[in-house]
Amino acid sequence: MASIATEICGISMETCVFNAAGPADVTLEELEVIGKSKSSAITMKSCTLEAREGNPEPRYRDLAFGSINSMGLPNLGYRKYIEFVAALKKFGKPIIPSISGLTRQDNEIIFEAFNDSEADFIEFNPGSPNTIGKPTAGYDMQYVDELLTAALGISNKPVGIKLPPYFDFVHFEQAWKVLKKHDIKFISTINSVGNALVIDPEKEQTVIKPKGGFGGLGGQYIKPTALANVRKFYELSEGKTPIIGVGGVFTGVDAFEYILAGATAVQVGTAFLQHGPGVFERIQKELREYMDKKGYETLEDFRGKLKVIE
Ligand code: DHB
Repeated sequence: MASIATEICGISMETCVFNAAGPADVTLEELEVIGKSKSSAITMKSCTLEAREGNPEPRYRDLAFGSINSMGLPNLGYRKYIEFVAALKKFGKPIIPSISGLTRQDNEIIFEAFNDSEADFIEFNPGSPNTIGKPTAGYDMQYVDELLTAALGISNKPVGIKLPPYFDFVHFEQAWKVLKKHDIKFISTINSVGNALVIDPEKEQTVIKPKGGFGGLGGQYIKPTALANVRKFYELSEGKTPIIGVGGVFTGVDAFEYILAGATAVQVGTAFLQHGPGVFERIQKELREYMDKKGYETLEDFRGKLKVIE
């Protein structure tokens, strides 16, 4: 049987498949479900300084090929997630807090507080498109530069960054120019495709309430965009920065495509929400089977080796 083990920030993981920040990872109860599942790590909901209720409902909708959400960062506040790190250690897998402070100062306080926790590594998420009244920070690279200088100056943990999708080669290059200045241990890409609009034609109405119906798209719709982002950052970093691919991973073959594009691991978001915690084991099994069929023994046999048509 093929091995799908991987390593991020020097931490070995039994498989390269685990949950994405966001879906069903707000409360300890939800996180314990992920702990008991075959998810190879426990990623927690992006947290802010204070607890937030999030945006008004309806704020999530399953779609034919994915999902749309405008949750608005509902979370219990960072102090709870520090407690949860300790409570989740018993599952024996890496625990990944996701930090989304609303200001630089908030991020500084939160990063400092996690220094005393047993979090394995931290995903810094400046990318939510859904905070009412705030632009998506990940599109303002000067601000990202400032945030990273602050966060990495304080944190004693390995820190990676979750990026919003970019769509133009110039923007990939501008992002990489800033990222490469910092000691970023991994890149998670992509966050949801922001400010999409889904319409119910019968009701002649939007399907979610916040922001006039505009929300972040996830699932199968976004896989090609996500693969492009993985590939570009793999190329720009010359394969030296681990990339965690996220966006529309529903099957083992999806995961395979991500590794082929250069990813070191994949996160599962919408598919976990739609299919429940058994999804991790199924994707892992399908990935192993697909590798067996191709005669690949480890992820390194094909990671990044995407062929292009000459
Ligand atoms: C939310 C959405 C995101 O895409 C994200 O990265 C963080 C938070 C949200 O709406 O809760």
